[in-house]
Amino acid sequence: QSFRRLEYRPPVYTFDQVELDIALDPARTIVKSRIEVLPGKSFEPGAPLVLVGHDLEFVSLRINGEAHRHFELTPETLTIHSLPNEGKDKFIVEIICVCVPEKNTTLMGLYVSNGNFFTQCEAEGFRKITYFLDRPDVMARFKVTLRAREAECPVLLSNGNLINTEKLPNGWHSATWEDPFPKPSYLFALVAGKLECIEETITTSSGAKKLLQIWVEPHDLKKTRHAMDSLIASIHWDEKRFGLELDLERFMIVAVSDFNMGAMENKGLNIFNTKFVLAQPETATDADFANIESVVAHEYFHNWTGNRVTCQDWFQLSLKEGLTVFRDQEFSADQMGSESGRAVKRIEDVRLLRQLQFPEDAGPMAHPIRPDEYQEINNFYTVTVYEKGSEVVRMYQTLLGRDGFRKGMDLYFKRHDGQAVTCDDFLMAMADANGKDLTQFKNWYSQAGTPRVKVQEHYDAAKKQYQLTLTQSCAPSPGQPEKKPFHIPLKMRLITKANDQKEQLLELTQASQTWTFDNVEERPVLSINRNFSAPVNLDFEQSEADLLTQFSSDDDAFNRWEAGQKLAMQMILNNRLPDAQIIEAYRNILLDPNLDPAFKDLTLTLPAESYLYEQCTSVDPQKIFTARRAFRREIAKQLQLEWAALYQQMQTPGPFKSDGVDSGKRALKNLSLSMLLEAAPGVWAPMAANQYQIADNMTDRYAALAALVMHGAKQAKECLIDFYNRFASDALVIDKWFGLQSSRPPVDGLDSTLEEVKKLREHPAFKLNNPNRVRSVIHAFCANNPASFHQADGSGYEFWADSVLALDPINPQVAARLARALDRWRLFAQPYQDRMKAALERVSACQTLSPDVREVIGKALGN
Ligand code: ARG
Ligand code: ZN
Repeated sequence: QSFRRLEYRPPVYTFDQVELDIALDPARTIVKSRIEVLPGKSFEPGAPLVLVGHDLEFVSLRINGEAHRHFELTPETLTIHSLPNEGKDKFIVEIICVCVPEKNTTLMGLYVSNGNFFTQCEAEGFRKITYFLDRPDVMARFKVTLRAREAECPVLLSNGNLINTEKLPNGWHSATWEDPFPKPSYLFALVAGKLECIEETITTSSGAKKLLQIWVEPHDLKKTRHAMDSLIASIHWDEKRFGLELDLERFMIVAVSDFNMGAMENKGLNIFNTKFVLAQPETATDADFANIESVVAHEYFHNWTGNRVTCQDWFQLSLKEGLTVFRDQEFSADQMGSESGRAVKRIEDVRLLRQLQFPEDAGPMAHPIRPDEYQEINNFYTVTVYEKGSEVVRMYQTLLGRDGFRKGMDLYFKRHDGQAVTCDDFLMAMADANGKDLTQFKNWYSQAGTPRVKVQEHYDAAKKQYQLTLTQSCAPSPGQPEKKPFHIPLKMRLITKANDQKEQLLELTQASQTWTFDNVEERPVLSINRNFSAPVNLDFEQSEADLLTQFSSDDDAFNRWEAGQKLAMQMILNNRLPDAQIIEAYRNILLDPNLDPAFKDLTLTLPAESYLYEQCTSVDPQKIFTARRAFRREIAKQLQLEWAALYQQMQTPGPFKSDGVDSGKRALKNLSLSMLLEAAPGVWAPMAANQYQIADNMTDRYAALAALVMHGAKQAKECLIDFYNRFASDALVIDKWFGLQSSRPPVDGLDSTLEEVKKLREHPAFKLNNPNRVRSVIHAFCANNPASFHQADGSGYEFWADSVLALDPINPQVAARLARALDRWRLFAQPYQDRMKAALERVSACQTLSPDVREVIGKALGN
């Protein structure tokens, strides 16, 4: 079944007040609802009320207090006929139904994790709790009473404010919560169980006092400080940058170890994957600390961009996700505390976009940031909707300026607070607040694919005139053979010895446009798409000399990094080793005392294999791996002295701080360590083993272990054993242990990683129903370890097919994610391509596939 954006109809009925009474029992939870129903925008007298419900046991229905028998039940719906006065006036529906949380392995709706109850309702999980108008344009006020046995569930949480608690007979108790803000069902949440919290009271901009809580299992309380600090920083940042204040008296975050995604912005009761809450230096890496900061911010920012103003329908998902990712990226950039820190954050974000979103945009699942069609909405929580969506929001800010963007945001809230709206509404707020025509900008919402911009230069020395011609195109994507030109903001600057040219913003709107620059005294070097101002591919043939100039001196840090990436990429794809000039350029970067260590680390990190694949028309994954690895080894060897010196200079003595400065130093130190092992594993492995043993933080311990494992050092084995024993009781650290082994590239003389992964799959600590564990073993291998995964005999693909088929009956959402690992199969050379196709067909032949996996496989095979 396919859903289409243009088939949207407003609801026939809508809800006002909703009261829920939920008696929690893992085997049989009884859900009673009392709903005030009103005519909606598509109402016609006599229309039936069609509620959706999934995996529910229906018990009873009453209307206006009377038993009602005029209804039909299907596996997905409850249709109610013969409504009082043809449905024209408000009426009350009361439903009783039952669900079974302990059997719910999909982790959507109400489920049990480590004996506690949690919910996940976005996008369509509420229908697994009770029959409802489970769509985001129906916004209701919720009052929720939770009941449970007090011994098993001392804590009972839901959205909003706690208005009552009671002791009940037989050891039961109850808590009643009221959320003052109308909300769609996808923002509903409940949590119940044995949890404890840390709390803080803060004063927000209006002078109001607010209670902040972070709820976790008792043994994790000591790992919540960083999340709390991140939450407080987010609250202050949103007040300062966007004038947006926390609107509730109480704001809660809860951590759960079984969770499909990163986290969820339920109103006043955010629920998080433990991975994005729990951290202390001994168990979490710098990357973990940074991710926690950004996910906490992301979910908090949704309170305005998502909750106060929500989406009309799920095709508009990027309205809240693209915007909220942009906001969290800006927040994290500001938290870096320096201009160079902001640039580092920008480079990291773009690297992710190119590694994950560019392939998606070129593959069978390509879709615009506002899709036109889907079979299963869970498959559209994608890097396109999120990360490309964020790039599109960033382009408004680039076009309108920071102040103009803020004006647009202010107008957006003024117009739409409390409403469920569309991406067009956002665009119109930006346009109207700034008096700017953004009609053509809409193409970013409707067209898939990464635009290509061809750059042609002409310098006339006699006239001292420079001409720049930009030509845009965009390859066809599924359902979109032809594309209209995009509105592309390109920041550019001409680099000259005289240093007399300013940065400018070019707006490329035609298929092809030429700009002329006068009084350019010498042939300049062009720096374009500075700070990655538009999510495009540049088709720009530059001489190695020009790239080296940019690499050593472009004043735009992003483009400086970019020049280095381009140099390396061209050489790797041509199977060349770095020449003396490049080595010298790398050396200068490493020795430059004015450069941020984090920037050096990014500069000396080579383009990912997945990004290199996208530059080819027929990918031989083993050749690319070998060429990239040889290139890396050469940098490692040629600069061995520098790496050794940096390893010493980048030490961070004193107490551990996860800030941008120290984490940048650790990153460069640990890159140096890895490079030393790349150059001469036998010589440097003892130093890595020593770092492993004496480290007082996870960043250094893990990096040392990774260097040993990745380079096949003999010390790897005993350190892995030590690591497991040391952290056996800490699930998130054990995920790292699994993940590291599954991501090991091929190493001469060792068993293949596939053999190791098959053993890990049988390890007693492996669980197919825990998404984090599945990701750390199966995804890490199939999606993040290309050289081990892509074997000419197809053994990796067989493992993939077995895993998708095993996972699908347990958790279709996680299975569908994994299914996407073969998206780009058509890009590969033989025999890889045929073997991938065979594996896809084997999965496709399964008669009982979930709609989730069916959609992904169907699109991959082109049905
Ligand atoms: N809205 C959440 C976020 O971006 C993601 C939840 C998606 N969950 C799902 N099951 N599709 O933070
Ligand atoms: Zn989000």
